Amino acid sequence: MGKVHVFDHPLIQHKLTFIRKVDTGTKEFRELVNELATLMAFEITRDLPTQEITIQTPVCEAKSHILAGKKLGIVPILRAGIGMVDGIIDLIPAAKVGHVGLFRDPETLKPVEYFVKLPSDVAEREFIVVDPMLATGGTAVEAINSMKKRGAVNIKFMCLVAAPEGVEVLTEAHPDVDVYIAALDEKLDEHGYIVPGLGDAGDRLFGTK
Ligand code: URA
Repeated sequence: MGKVHVFDHPLIQHKLTFIRKVDTGTKEFRELVNELATLMAFEITRDLPTQEITIQTPVCEAKSHILAGKKLGIVPILRAGIGMVDGIIDLIPAAKVGHVGLFRDPETLKPVEYFVKLPSDVAEREFIVVDPMLATGGTAVEAINSMKKRGAVNIKFMCLVAAPEGVEVLTEAHPDVDVYIAALDEKLDEHGYIVPGLGDAGDRLFGTK
């Protein structure tokens, strides 16, 4: 079973409070989502392998560490996931960015893929799939299905706010995927919104309603 990591870092909790507030405007919301993504990426990449190299400092020759060439990919789930990409790229500029887009079939209510574009060396990359909200889990499960179908084998999932229902669905469907969450909320309401949540993350990021 994949591990579920809930971040309790004070900076993450502080910034989350402000994205939850109903009177936080689009500009501030977008900035905070990116900052949260950066802070979470810092934690998620904690186990990346490093290699020792020899460098010359102004003082002497020294041994020091660099990342061991691990290839990373960030995959936002359209559309709200896009709001987290820049924050991660700030920290890992060499990461490639794929995209997965899904819509809900109005009859079956199931997510159906309409756009998938991943880096070509998909099997060699470690992917971080991002979506600010993990609600029912249906979209996250289907996005990861789409990636695995195309050869992705090493996947982590990162979101800002999750409902327990979504975490259960995702970890059962993809036990090999570790899940990283800034806040684990109470529940889903009858419309599928996370409670207390922050409303519709896509609308708040892009100023639509
Ligand atoms: N998607 C959102 O943007 N917000 C929710 O509360 C649930 C799903």
